[in-house]
Amino acid sequence: MPNEKKQCQHTAKLCAALEKNENYQKAKAYAEKVLALGNDSLEKTIAIAVSLCLVCAVLVSFAAVALKPLQINNKEMDMKQNILDVAGLLEEGSNIEAAFAEKIEAKIVDLETGDYIESINAADYDQRKAAKDPAQSIAIPKEKDIAHIRIKAKYAKVFLVKEGGAIKSIILPINGYGLWSTLYGFLSLDADGQTIQSINFYDQAETPGLGGEVVNPNWRALWKGKKVYAESDQPSMEKGLIEEADIGEPAITLIKGVVDNAKPGAQYQVDGLAGATLTSTGVSNLVRYWMSKEGFAPYLKKVRTVKGARS
Ligand SMILES: Cc1cc2nc3c(=O)[nH]c(=O)nc-3n(C[C@H](O)[C@H](O)[C@H](O)COP(=O)(O)O)c2cc1C
Repeated sequence: MPNEKKQCQHTAKLCAALEKNENYQKAKAYAEKVLALGNDSLEKTIAIAVSLCLVCAVLVSFAAVALKPLQINNKEMDMKQNILDVAGLLEEGSNIEAAFAEKIEAKIVDLETGDYIESINAADYDQRKAAKDPAQSIAIPKEKDIAHIRIKAKYAKVFLVKEGGAIKSIILPINGYGLWSTLYGFLSLDADGQTIQSINFYDQAETPGLGGEVVNPNWRALWKGKKVYAESDQPSMEKGLIEEADIGEPAITLIKGVVDNAKPGAQYQVDGLAGATLTSTGVSNLVRYWMSKEGFAPYLKKVRTVKGARS
């Protein structure tokens, strides 16, 4: 068998070991016996089909294992791209990794107290994974679960953009149920913790053209400049640093139809998605949930500044 010899020359040791193996010899003998059968033999048909399945399974498993690091890297890169995007820092053709490292600072926040947890390395922390781990998560009481997520991680991973040491953007992870899926995204706020810069959803499975329009740049642009909390709840803007003041309930909401900017309250309203009231309600609820005391209000109370006075 010259072909067999050729294949074996680089793997001589393996071939020698196989040749000595009793099971290999049995399998080889069986393969030879099956191949000698006629093509209409049931045994040959089944043996070939099973062998083919085995080969395919090995190939698929190998591909899945070999490509895993690449998948993880791509996912991470996609996340960084989304964070740069919501911060308004995504430039076409730029190096995502370098831009992220230069401009974005990740921090871990205790949602209950609003304090930073410096003992956890933000680069290694996966909030979505933590939310699935009973030791790292909290069940949300039904009456408070307006985002329909049932469970949340105790610690959230937030991102800051700073300029000259002062906060320029506060980027918060948000998630909640729409019509068909849980939407995952980011909300970017000014340093006042009140004015919205941008929103984006990087993972959702709403219907393209209906609820899936949450990714439409035109709709996303409607959020810019909108206010999260009712202005009457805001403390005096002269103070510079709003540290002691409480944060009210979120007022931001998606409405059915188009916002009339001449009407009072327009600063808290965003156009709902046409033909997708259920997704719009989901988005409204999830943003309100994460901006409430159940979400980031304790953190925003501590970190927000009027003119970026705090780092
Ligand atoms: C195939 C199909 C897919 C739909 N996908 C969505 C969706 O992703 N989000 C949504 O809110 N409504 C979706 N709807 C429509 C909802 O069932 C519902 O009619 C709609 O939310 C009402 O919105 P409207 O009051 O703006 O018309 C879908 C309907 C159909 C038939």
